[in-house]
Amino acid sequence: MSSPAVHVLPARSWAADVAAEFGRRLIQQPRLRICLPTGDTPAPLYAALAEMAIRGELSFALATIILLDEYVDLPVGDPARGASQVRHDLLDRLPSGPARFHAIRVDELAPERAAAELDATTADGLDLALVGLGLNGHVGFNEPGSTAQSPTRVVPLSRASVQVATAEYGAKRAPSTGITLGLARILEAAEIWLLVTGERKADVLRRALEEPETPDCPASFLRRHARLHVFADDAAADLLTSA
Ligand code: PGA
Repeated sequence: MSSPAVHVLPARSWAADVAAEFGRRLIQQPRLRICLPTGDTPAPLYAALAEMAIRGELSFALATIILLDEYVDLPVGDPARGASQVRHDLLDRLPSGPARFHAIRVDELAPERAAAELDATTADGLDLALVGLGLNGHVGFNEPGSTAQSPTRVVPLSRASVQVATAEYGAKRAPSTGITLGLARILEAAEIWLLVTGERKADVLRRALEEPETPDCPASFLRRHARLHVFADDAAADLLTSA
């Protein structure tokens, strides 16, 4: 198993630094096929990317963006919905949109069909999977109990994820179910970037990177990937012995 590349960045420049790295990646490969997470961690990164796009420093015009996960039982337009967040935080701010944006079609399709469509969309492989880290060690909605073989699927949400949806993302009611890209698909991406900020994530990041891999902390399986880059701010990296 190779060790991940851990990039520890000052909190004040984390978003701009990761955005600059992303911009270089997009210039190298304008037709990038990426999956994007939503939440508090990537929001400042998306704001920085949108500013770069407005200044003409990068363009998503040829890129394909695929949503990493989505709630099944929140109404269209609920602020917590993954599609709402990625539109609000990134897509609506771009001077011109990506070539393709794949939301997870929970409004049009039965959940199993929407999950199957997400899986088919990613079956040819992602160039880059951007993922966040849940306080409970989840990646997307690969909640504790998930393994490196977990497929793209409909999942019951952990209590922690339900709590975050209402308390942090402004969900108008408590969701119970989500759809997530499976860890197996995420591990098939050519490259993975794990985005982690803030002191409250320090212990789970330490568990994910430095304790034996375990379904109790699904992010620990990301270490199996040969091209895992961890972009942590100094607060999140504080408990790492290796960084
Ligand atoms: P957060 O969520 O960025 O809002 O902390 C991360 C996650 O749950 O994946």
